[in-house]
Formats: sequence, C-alpha cells, structure tokens
Amino acid sequence: MALSKEESRIKRERKQKINDIRNIVLFVLLTAAFFFRVNDALLHIDEIPSSYDVLHFFGGGAKPFVKLVENEVSVSFIDVGQGDCELITAGGRNILIDSGDIMYVDRTIGFLRSNGVKRLDIVIVTHPHDDHFGGMSKILKSFPVGQVIMTKTEARGSSFGKMMSVIEERNIPLQSAEPGERFVLGERTFLDILAPLYKDYTEENNLSVVTRLIHGETSFLFTGDLERMGELDLVDKDFFLDSDVLKVGHHGSAGSSCAEFLERVTPKIAVFESGGINYYGHPRSEVLDRLAAVGCRDAYSTANNGNIVIASDGTELRVETERETAYVLI
Ligand SMILES: [Fe+2]
Repeated sequence: MALSKEESRIKRERKQKINDIRNIVLFVLLTAAFFFRVNDALLHIDEIPSSYDVLHFFGGGAKPFVKLVENEVSVSFIDVGQGDCELITAGGRNILIDSGDIMYVDRTIGFLRSNGVKRLDIVIVTHPHDDHFGGMSKILKSFPVGQVIMTKTEARGSSFGKMMSVIEERNIPLQSAEPGERFVLGERTFLDILAPLYKDYTEENNLSVVTRLIHGETSFLFTGDLERMGELDLVDKDFFLDSDVLKVGHHGSAGSSCAEFLERVTPKIAVFESGGINYYGHPRSEVLDRLAAVGCRDAYSTANNGNIVIASDGTELRVETERETAYVLI
C-alpha cells in the first residue's frame, strides 16, 4: 500500500535525524582522536589522556602481552625507535631502565599499562642522552616510583632539568649508581650494578649505568650506550659478565661490543634497540660479525620485531615479539 504524503515526510525526517546523529558522533570521535594524537606528537600536555590511555580504557593494548607463571621473570625491550627502554618484572616488582625519547613516551606508557604495571619500584637512567631519558619526566608523573638510580652527571639542558624537578617535586628518592650494589628481587633473582666504574670518562656513553639481572641459571646484561673503553674497564675489573641475553651497547654501534668484551659475555641472544631508519646504520654489520664469532646465533631488534619480551623460568628462556621477524646471525 502506498504511503500517504504525511507518512513519507515523517519517514524522511526520521532518516535525516539518524544520519545527523551519526555524523555528529563520527565528527566528535574523529576530532577527539585527532586531538589526542596531536597532543601525543606535539603538545605533550600531561593532563590530557594520551591515545594509548584511551585505547587501554576501551580494552585495546600493546603487544605482546605475556602472562607470567609463578617464579617467572620477564624483560621487555620496548620499541622506542632509536633509543633504549627496558622493563624488568620480577616477583611483582617492576624496574624500568631508560624511557626512550619524549616522542615515544605515550607508546611506552601504553605498553606499561597494558602489561599491568601500576608502580615502578626502581627507575634507572643510564646516562643523560635524550634517546634514553627524554620521556622520563612524564613516566615519573604517570606512576608511583620507589626510587631513581642514575649516573653521576652535571645536570644540563631543559629536559634534564624538567626530569630533576619532577624527582624533587614528588620526593622520589634519588641515588647514584654504585658498582657492586645488589638488589634482591626474589630468592634466586638479583639485579647487580656493574658500572659506571669511573667518573672521568670524557665520552658520556661510557658513564652508562650497566646492570646484570640474574634469575636462577639465566642472566641478562644491560649496557646502555657503553663503548669500547667502558667495556674494557669492565673486562679488566674481572666482573662476571657471562650472560644469556645481551642488550647490545649503543644500539649496535661499531664503537661498542668489542671482541674482548663479547668473549666474556658470550650471549646466546642479542637484542638491539634501534630505529628502522637511523642515520648511523645501526646495528652495524661488524657488530653482528663479532657476535657471531662468540657463538651468538639469535638476534632480535626493536626495528624488526617491535616490542620484544623474554621470559625466564630460571632455566629456559622464551621469546615473544610484537612482529615475528626474528633473524639468525649466521
Ligand atoms: Fe643512545
């Protein structure tokens, strides 16, 4: 039966109203998404939630999400482009080593929240370069923090000053890294500070805080941007350096990971934290050759694999990555 003119008009108006509401909702959502992304990339206003916060609120989140079973510890190498950021989760405690640059901080906070981090018990700033601490002030504001450990350095630059102000404002205990100090994270789990051994290095990379995590029979070595001189000092000091996993120094630069050092570390797995496109050609082929020469067969990089998580049960290691493009060294 044909609709009367009045009924057709009502139907047309109702359809128009639904379209208008849909368009308004779409406009609001797109504007909000654009605004959050602009804040993430340019404005960095701490009071405005990041796009990762919003995603997390709606049940989305960073990958991989690794659920630990009892007595497991995990080390996450968070993809912060050409920069360093590692998270150790052990016995319910969280330790963050570096933050990456400011431009990746919201991604990093998203990863931490997605993986259930509510508090950072220890935060380590390896050395005062932006690709290691640039995002730290926002991270220190985003989580309760137990203490900050950093290399002794002359404070300089506005972003370094900003980080120090947050530490002061929040009364976060600040300690300088002392080689020989051990943090007990569990019955068979320890984090040892190995370096910086000396304070008079002219190259700041050699002031990097170096740590070694032990869980049962497994171990991980974190070297920041340590270069050959700092590595040789560690070798001379006769520290026990042998480790299953090496966070390769200085993003895989040729001036790091010297043969004498690698012969003492003999890693099974090497992890590079470097950007897909970087001006330095990191990781350098010489470094891959030197790693292969000491028997290292597996290498992962944040550029290829995105976020990388290595879990240890004290004996075995299992590796999970955001993107499965692991490559074999030789
Ligand atoms: Fe660096």
